[in-house]
Parts: sequence; C-alpha cells; structure tokens
Amino acid sequence: MSSRPIPRSLLPDTTTFLEDDVEVGGVSLVHLAERFGTPLFVYDEATLRQRARAAATAFSPGVAFASKSFLCGAIARLVVEEGLCVDVATGGEMDLVLRAGVEPSRIVVHGNNKLPDEIDQALAVGVHRFVVDNENEIDRLRERMDGTRSLDCLVRVTPGVEAHTHEFIKTGQEDSKFGFSLASGRARAAVETLREIPGVRVRGLHFHIGSQIFDVAGYDEALARVVELVVSTGVEELCVGGGLGVAYVEGESAMTIEEWGAGVRAAAARHGLPESVRLTAEPGRAIVAQAGVTLYRVGVVKDVPQRRYLAVDGGMSDNPRPVLYGSGYEAFDVTQPLAERPQAVRIVGRHCESGDVLVDEAWLPQSTGVGSLIATPVTGAYGYSMASNYNRVGRPAVVFVANGNARLVLRRESADDLVRLEVDSGGNSSLG
Ligand code: LLP
Repeated sequence: MSSRPIPRSLLPDTTTFLEDDVEVGGVSLVHLAERFGTPLFVYDEATLRQRARAAATAFSPGVAFASKSFLCGAIARLVVEEGLCVDVATGGEMDLVLRAGVEPSRIVVHGNNKLPDEIDQALAVGVHRFVVDNENEIDRLRERMDGTRSLDCLVRVTPGVEAHTHEFIKTGQEDSKFGFSLASGRARAAVETLREIPGVRVRGLHFHIGSQIFDVAGYDEALARVVELVVSTGVEELCVGGGLGVAYVEGESAMTIEEWGAGVRAAAARHGLPESVRLTAEPGRAIVAQAGVTLYRVGVVKDVPQRRYLAVDGGMSDNPRPVLYGSGYEAFDVTQPLAERPQAVRIVGRHCESGDVLVDEAWLPQSTGVGSLIATPVTGAYGYSMASNYNRVGRPAVVFVANGNARLVLRRESADDLVRLEVDSGGNSSLG
C-alpha cells in the first residue's frame, strides 16, 4: 500500500515530473499519447544506452544483449552501437537482427532445439558464437561441418544451481531442458566430442541460471562448480548468461549492472578463474526493463463491494507477465505524477478473461477515472516481445524518445495487419 507519489526511481533515468505531465527524454507523455494513441510503449534512449554501455564494460568484450527481452531493428542497432553483441534464440530473432544490419560477427545463437534451417543460416552467415545445447545438435553439426568452414562455439552447461526466482524462469537446475549437465560429465564429454569435429572451435562454456535474480549468490555457486571445467578444458571464455533482476515496484531494489559485473568477476576470481579467460554475460531485462513505460487510457470504472476496477485500452496482450508469473507492477496518473495516491484500484485490460489483470492493486490519485492517462513503469522487458493478438487486438506502437524528440520505431498493428495471414477470403474481397 502506498499513498505517496510514484517513486521516480522506477522510471527511466531522464524522467521529470511536472505538475500536470511527465517528461521522458525531454518529451511530454501527454503529447505522445495524443500523437501516437494508446496503448503505447515509450522507451528512453538515454536509459537504454546507459544500461547497454554499462553491460558492455562490466565484463570482458563479447557481452550480448538478450534480444528475447525486447527486439526490433532500432534496439538491435542501439545495443550494437553501445558495444554489445546480440543474443538470438530463434531463426526469427536472427532474421530480424540481420535485417537490422547487425554484422553476423556480433550475433550469438542460442536455442534448445535449433531447427536445421537455423543451424544452416548460422553457419552460412558466420556468427560470433554458436551456443551448443545438446547431443542431437552435435550430431547435426557433425553432418554439416565438412572441413571447409568454421564455427566458434560455446558449450551450454547446466551447473545444477537453483536460482531463487519463479519456477518458469529458472534454468540452471539439473532438471532442465537446457544444456549439458555438469555433474553427470556430459558437459565435459560435449567439449571433447565437439573438438573432434573439423572446423568446430570450442571457444568456451556458457551457463544461465535463471531470470529476475537479485543477488550474486547463484552466480557464485555456479562459478564454484564450473570453473574447474573451464580450467581443465583450457577454454578461453566463460559466459554467465543473463538474469540480473530489476525493481518493478516500490520497496524492491536491484543491483546495478556495474555491481552485478563486479560481484560476478570477484566470485570468478575467488573460484580460480584465470585472468586470461574472457568472462562475458548476456543480460536482457536489466538493459530494457526500466527504460520502458506503457501508456494506457482508462475507459471504464466499475465499483463492486470488494474493490474498484479500472479498465484500460490494453491488457494481457501487451503485458502478459502478471497473468503468467503473477508479476507486480505500479501505475501512476500521467497528468498528476506528484499527487498523493490514496485510491486503491485493480487495473484490468479489455480481454475476455477475468485473469486479464495488469496491476492487481494499484494506487492512484483520488480523481483518476474515466479518460485519465495512466502509465505502468518498468514495462520495457518481456512485454512487447511476449505481446499477442489475443481477441484480435493489434500490438501497440513503440516510440523511442531522446533529447526532446520522439521517433516511432514500431507502428501500431492495423486491422489490415491483423488479416494479412488469411488465405481463404470466403468470397469477401476485404478479407484477403
Ligand atoms: N540468456 C539466456 C540463455 C536466456 O535464456 C535468457 C532469458 C537470458 C540470457 C536473458 O535473461 P534476462 O537477463 O532477461 O533475465 N519471460 C520471462 C523471462 C524469461 C527469460 C528467458 N531467458 C519474464 O518475463 O520474466
């Protein structure tokens, strides 16, 4: 519960609270909503660049941005400009990143079931790192490596560490669909097998223990287990994956990227990782989450004995995280950011499900109601990238703001976009 104004620390770095508006990147959120409509994702470029740069310098060269957290051409180019590589987990992500003009030598390819076409494409373009996940994939590589080309690999290891996070987003434990288990010796065997394939260069090892993690203990534990394999196989690189958590609501606090990097590097040194080994990472959320806010317009206020509902013009189609993980968010009224927030409401979307909740218990100014412009902060990660067209709702537009300017980087999905896959028009010429 909170009656205080929304903490500025949850908003993008350049945020300014005015009496009747909020500026991000020197741009009025009220004007953005008028110009581009709602729901609208707004990203602060300064925050994105600061986080990307911090990630690039917190570890050795070769840090990648986990593009699954938010991907479009503009973000792919931005993170590369700031010195990062881009981690892609599917052919779709790789295709977008290549179309955005990212050099293949900046691409890190992931996936626990890479499709034959995806492997072929990675080989054809010549990616920076190919993260090998399982034995079947090794077989597919063996079939393709004829001695005329080369591939720089990391071997994904499951270190057997339980990260303290939601079950669906923890990945380092033994009982996982990802990677080669360390304890069973399969990880070591994978390194040896790959080394026998002509053209395959095993550059290093990789682990990823989960997502939305708030301390270095899990990384410390994983490093304690993995360093020995790094040393005994003599590889030159170790990637600790992503996972750095962010504060979503008042009262939470997270490490900065700099603190995370320093903590992980110290743990690696303590566990005997030679200084010559490149220590890298691939954060997603920590780069994009806080840079983003979502703007919504309130359409309906409904009072029931238990509570007040505010229905907005978006919902689980633009932010499925509350439904999927029970994730908490805050909200504020854009036209009165400095006001007290005594009104408790449940913010819901417009989808045909009772579970379509965006903020279970939001605190808003007393006068917030129908027509108000409200915003949910920290929605830059895994919102747009997991957005859907449920109920035939188009995905929102995405705007980047910087130095007083706004640029549209993804336009709103139109009615035409939503029928573009229809093959059988059923005689109706407007459908197909
Ligand atoms: N590297 C690998 C191999 C990963 O699987 C992931 C995330 C990352 C890096 C980036 O993790 P991050 O730094 O963003 O925590 N949809 C969920 C999160 C799923 C994360 C999946 N893998 C959510 O909304 O919380």
